Amino acid sequence: MTSRYRFILLGVLGFATGFSALFGQASKKGAIAYPTGYRHWTHVKSMLIYSKENALFEKFGGLHNVYVNDIGWPSLQKGRAYPDGSMFVFELFDMRTFQGTIEARGRKFLAVMKKNSKLYPGTGGWGFEVFQGYQATGSLKDTKQCFDCHSSQKPRDYVYSDYVE
Ligand code: HEC
Repeated sequence: MTSRYRFILLGVLGFATGFSALFGQASKKGAIAYPTGYRHWTHVKSMLIYSKENALFEKFGGLHNVYVNDIGWPSLQKGRAYPDGSMFVFELFDMRTFQGTIEARGRKFLAVMKKNSKLYPGTGGWGFEVFQGYQATGSLKDTKQCFDCHSSQKPRDYVYSDYVE
């Protein structure tokens, strides 16, 4: 193969992979993008789940912080239903005890909820997603596990957290 052909082939391959990446994203209907900048949203609360006494320890053990974006914030304050575009982030850090402290270590995952009544009518209008570790691409296969538990909060529009003043 001449280098010219090799060049063209690489170009075609590059285009094809780029296209399939775009297409792949578009075909995952209602996929939630990584919530860039969420640390600048409103901090709602933090909690440390530190022992097996808590039933959620296996899955959610560690330090978590909850954030809400500007669209969701007024509803959280007033306890009203959330408008489309509202987002919550639940970030979970691993922990370690050290010289009388409990320190946050690496991030285990980010769990995200995004309101869009048209896209997610089957789950109370909320989309759910999980970003493992520091990955920027969501990995959640089935939102049912999330929604099943969050359904108990239906009167509060499926949101658990209260703002801690
Ligand atoms: C076993 C029950 C349970 C399951 C399963 C669960 N959650 Fe939650 N989730 C909670 C609780 C309890 C809180 C509140 C934590 C707090 O008060 O600090 C919460 C909080 C959240 C929040 C912050 C907003 C809110 O409702 O307070 C997000 C975002 C979230 N969860 C996303 C998810 C996603 C995504 C999944 C699925 C991968 C999921 N959750 C699965 C119980 C659950």
